[in-house]
Amino acid sequence: MKYSKPEVEKKVNELISKMSLAEKVGQLNQIGGFSFGQGPGPEEQIRERGAGSILWLNDTKRFNELQKIAIEESPSGIPILFALDVIHGYRTIFPAPLAMASSWDPDVPEKAQTVAAREARAAGIHWTFTPMVDIARDARWGRIVEGAGEDPYLGSAMAAAQVRGFQGDDVTGPERMLACAKHFAGYGASDGGRDYDPVYLPENLLRNVYFPPFKAAVDAGCATFMSAYMDLNDVPASGNQFLMRQVLREEWGFEGFVVSDAHAVGSMVTQGHARDTKDAALRGIKAGLNLDMSSYTYTKGVEELVDEGKLTVEEIEELVRPILAAKVKMGLFETPYVDEDLLEQVVNRPDHREVSLWSAQRSMVLLKNEKNLLPLSKDVKKVAVIGPVADSKTAVEGTWMVFGHEPAAVTVLEGIRNKLPDAEVTYAEGPEIKRDIPSWFQARREGDNPKPRQTSEEATAAIQEAVKIAGDAELVVMVLGETHFMSGEAASRASLDLPGRQEELLQAVAALGKPVVLVLVNGRPLSINWAAEHIPAILEAWQPGSEAGNAVADILFGDVNPGGKLPVCFPQKGSHAPLYYARNLTHSPESSERYNPRYWDGLPVPLYAFGFGLSYTTFEFTNLSVSDSQMKVGETLTVSVDVTNTGDVAGDEVPQLYIHQKWGTDTRPMRELKGFQRISLEPGETKTVEFELGPKELTYWSANVHDWIQDTVTFDVWVGADSTASLHAEFEVI
Ligand code: BGC
Repeated sequence: MKYSKPEVEKKVNELISKMSLAEKVGQLNQIGGFSFGQGPGPEEQIRERGAGSILWLNDTKRFNELQKIAIEESPSGIPILFALDVIHGYRTIFPAPLAMASSWDPDVPEKAQTVAAREARAAGIHWTFTPMVDIARDARWGRIVEGAGEDPYLGSAMAAAQVRGFQGDDVTGPERMLACAKHFAGYGASDGGRDYDPVYLPENLLRNVYFPPFKAAVDAGCATFMSAYMDLNDVPASGNQFLMRQVLREEWGFEGFVVSDAHAVGSMVTQGHARDTKDAALRGIKAGLNLDMSSYTYTKGVEELVDEGKLTVEEIEELVRPILAAKVKMGLFETPYVDEDLLEQVVNRPDHREVSLWSAQRSMVLLKNEKNLLPLSKDVKKVAVIGPVADSKTAVEGTWMVFGHEPAAVTVLEGIRNKLPDAEVTYAEGPEIKRDIPSWFQARREGDNPKPRQTSEEATAAIQEAVKIAGDAELVVMVLGETHFMSGEAASRASLDLPGRQEELLQAVAALGKPVVLVLVNGRPLSINWAAEHIPAILEAWQPGSEAGNAVADILFGDVNPGGKLPVCFPQKGSHAPLYYARNLTHSPESSERYNPRYWDGLPVPLYAFGFGLSYTTFEFTNLSVSDSQMKVGETLTVSVDVTNTGDVAGDEVPQLYIHQKWGTDTRPMRELKGFQRISLEPGETKTVEFELGPKELTYWSANVHDWIQDTVTFDVWVGADSTASLHAEFEVI
């Protein structure tokens, strides 16, 4: 049943009118499906006061059991919202979000998250903590893999597409789930790329760079938000009135609810912001944070705060309302239970694997292809596939495969074997790769007896074995990169080099003089400087999901022409991070005669630029034109360009439009992406691509004026295949 807004309000008011304060606070509480030692088990808590939500549970039967307790035994019988991190797929896994952003095609995340929602909902999950829309300009930050990369324009497109994917036009549908834009806000800019560390961002950067994907999520109707863990300008995001009250609700008109990140309300005490649990509860409520994710700070502190007159019942009700409204809108009062037979039918739909394969194919980025080594011939008789992630299901499924997920992906080795049934495909793992310091997540997954580390002698022997196997083959596919624990939460790194002894392995294999293709499986840009110089063909596959190996083989052997583009630049060194294309000019620009290098021990120029990616064909950009050389503030003009496929095969190109405001109230970045389109072209075909530039693209939040402004100035425009595009025009705003 679909409720109108007044009907939802009426139902919520009826519920509120019969709820005790304890129950209201219960709705502001999200119970952990497994406990970190705080508080009683879920049954007891639900019976006592109900619960807003439960997370970290992935068990359809258990959902129904707990729901039954909520409906039949909790005081007002209010159903529970079951929540889980369905980040890039539930059972069918899609490319990690950074990879999906590399498609530069919003249809990819939209279609992928539509399937993810269908599967997760069939399992009984109502709400996902996705999309993560944090801008990440520091590749050392482990969570860069969960977002859309460094750029607010691309990030906004991907954020909105994911919300549409999960929620559709109507989140009340039986195959839809609530989306959650996270982590509000600034999390990706932590000091030194170190996860959880404080963030210092001036308001102009917040508004021009870090907020836009969140705003895009709100505009796309995103039902919920998650506050970040860290301090933003010395105020924890979960107690931050500026973020949650002023920006999110007053300015953007958000009507949904905000959940804290895990334990983050309680963590305000640990962070040295709140005096004690009660003070943390007060700060969370005052900041407008609705749902306490499993720190039980609200259930411990709020009632006493009301008794003491520090909070009013109305303030609590204000935060309860959107949570109840979501439950009403989702139809949980009519259909609280999930059909336990549905899941296996839904997750085994063949079209889900097809969407996964298609997404993976569209997400991969060809970084190098000297002398057109790729595509490879399928007539090859003997191929060696080498590397520690070549046959790893967990590495290709990637980040967030937690809570009982059994990896079922096609590895790169398996994909190549599928593609070449008549060839001999040999394999060597090479030396193992492991984090120097494991994370809590890794420890939880590996249990008490993790595999012992390889000794240095064992690793040397593994390299020798791999070289021997490579030496017997006609060509070698090296699959190197990172394990799934090497990116994601609590997975930041100081270096961006290939972990472990992979580069040594690569060099030893390359020394054989055979044709070598490098496939990267990883969750962040890597400093593959040696490979970029010496290995003729490099494909960035990222973490491609369930159909990883088949997608890689389709590209390597020419059944699919790659068309992905980088959503982040690749720094040459970890110490060059943060590195991004949209920097400001300086008094000593890189193009100037008397250029003073930023570092004397190596220029911080990216190895691969933002927006870069090759194809098996070539493209030419011509006839860049601007519809008007002048326009007034508030008007819109059209930029058009012709793109021609100048090669022999069909392929995709992504024309990208960048602008630069030449002067003005504030200094603006030397380039900013303001338009892109992924297009397909047959050999010899030309398409004219048009972009609009108007107030939306030309307005910015000025640090000088402390408001949104549009300057009357001259702009540069470039359109081309990446952020170094040279085809140039100008226009003036008068
Ligand atoms: C992460 C969030 C996640 C939450 C719930 C936290 O540790 O930062 O991204 O949604 O856990 O699993």
